[in-house]
Amino acid sequence: MCGIVGYAGSGNAPQILVEALKRLEYRGYDSSGIALHEKNGLTIHKKQGRITVMEEALPKLAATVGIGHTRWATHGEPSDANAHPQVDSSGDIAVIHNGTLENYADLRSGMEAAGIKFNSGTDTEVLPHLIERHYDGDLLTAVRTALGDVTGAYAIAVLHAAHPGEIVAARNESPLVIGFGEGEHFIASDAPAIVKYTQRVAYVRNGELVCLTADSVEISDMAGNIREPEIEELDWSFEDSERGGYAHYMLKEIFEQPRALQESLLPTLAEAIIDGLDLNWRIGSISIVACGTSLHAGMVGKYVIEQLTAIPVNVCHASEFRYSPPVQNVGGMLSARPLVVLISQSGETADTLAAARVARQQGSHTVAICNVGGSSLARNVDGILLTHAGPEIGVAATKTFLVQMQALYMLAVHLAYSRKGIDLPQLRRWEQELRKLPHYVGQVLERRSVITKLANSLTQASSLFFIGRNLGYPIALEGALKLKEISYLHAEGYPAGELKHGPLALLSPQTPVIAIASQDHTHAKLVSNMEEVAARKAPLLVVAQEGDADALRLSERVITLPASDPVLMPFTAGVALQLLAYHVAEELGCDIDKPRNLAKSVTVE
Ligand code: G6P
Repeated sequence: MCGIVGYAGSGNAPQILVEALKRLEYRGYDSSGIALHEKNGLTIHKKQGRITVMEEALPKLAATVGIGHTRWATHGEPSDANAHPQVDSSGDIAVIHNGTLENYADLRSGMEAAGIKFNSGTDTEVLPHLIERHYDGDLLTAVRTALGDVTGAYAIAVLHAAHPGEIVAARNESPLVIGFGEGEHFIASDAPAIVKYTQRVAYVRNGELVCLTADSVEISDMAGNIREPEIEELDWSFEDSERGGYAHYMLKEIFEQPRALQESLLPTLAEAIIDGLDLNWRIGSISIVACGTSLHAGMVGKYVIEQLTAIPVNVCHASEFRYSPPVQNVGGMLSARPLVVLISQSGETADTLAAARVARQQGSHTVAICNVGGSSLARNVDGILLTHAGPEIGVAATKTFLVQMQALYMLAVHLAYSRKGIDLPQLRRWEQELRKLPHYVGQVLERRSVITKLANSLTQASSLFFIGRNLGYPIALEGALKLKEISYLHAEGYPAGELKHGPLALLSPQTPVIAIASQDHTHAKLVSNMEEVAARKAPLLVVAQEGDADALRLSERVITLPASDPVLMPFTAGVALQLLAYHVAEELGCDIDKPRNLAKSVTVE
């Protein structure tokens, strides 16, 4: 999704903006651009393609104030003209925008009828024209009034040639953070963009505007009320978000998982584990709501919560949940308020945020499992269970997936204990098992060379199936998602028992099947499914725990996982499949950290 940065200080603005934009590359983009305050007014430099394309075309510039943007096309194809900044008719006002404006078409046709010429196919271009229309010497007021005319989601930043030194920014739904340096200030869509320069940040809230200069920051709302910024110190540094010798962020992040699990594990699960919300009430049902990989973590969580607490759990795509019919309290049947658990590593996914809003409107308690403390989601729920995986830059989620599952296991154990479903010794045993996770994951990482070899045998596949049962099923889904995201090979995750209902028709020597063989009560059934695959001469790769004789009998290609309690297998198998996907994509020469068409943070619907 689009990324926004802004700088006001005494440093070299173009260099700082380009550097900051590069830190937002993980969000996904197709073009980039900057606008700078220069002696004779604004200069705009923008190009389709990688940031380096724009950077190489930049002349030597000495500006100290400017804004920068990476664009992820929504309205209008990727092109130089559609790249941001977009400008008004005079070229005095430059706007960058992340989000989508719902009423842009009406606004644009009205303006075109009045003789205003548009130079791009973007929704954004209406904004500089609107600001121009409302401008009367005060940029902040003009932006505020212009925003009153638009509906939709946005984070924007604006420069005006007549206001050197000043940046006006605003947000509604799309994220925006302010950075506080010494004699300099920053804005950005996400903190990794500016953490090289400062760890002191404040988050802009929905409906707020910011007026920024080198020496001042003023936050106000749409009515003009001023709010003091709440400055927070980031607990991670620039080094944490660097690649640290790994070929890709994704690989680095896969290897950071033992530490991420360690840092995110709470010391005890007997006492309150959710910040801001106690769970000592009768929970009638739980809905887990998320997108993408976070949804798969939620599916794993469902099995564990239901197993330990007997509370019914349903797992919903956030994009569906937000439009589901309101819960009716028919005849008082809903005697207990439902609990809605929203999972999002970024806390900025548009559908998950909307789902949180809907859940609250429907009277549910809301809890977020999130990796970013100051995120929009974290601020808009009743309680939060924060994970501490550190910044995740690779578009394909890895370490955040593992800590999300860990958070759900902790929630399950806590709920079970507080409802007397398990006693203290049982709770302690669970705590002990969870403490072993970093060790087990470390053991999988040590087997990387075996996984690399097996990955090489998959690169020519025409299509792949990942199958599993019980806890192995969501892991099959996640394995297939990881592979298709970064290698562009077609892959599908299936419950192994469903193979006979369609996919068997597709099996051939060109369609490898990857089976996730949990050592649980479904193991024998999965073995039958693997036999079916072998009988159809489809190459079979098995992810199995040490000592699984069936796996070794049925296939020469086995990824062996450490022998842990089967309930922990999603963690070990999850990591093995991340490495498998990574090495397939590497062998195919794919752009692993920035897969085509995908974005890290999906901030539009
Ligand atoms: C995008 C990312 C995925 C991520 C999903 C949900 O699709 O590419 O890696 O799982 O969004 O993101 P969230 O931040 O809500 O967990």
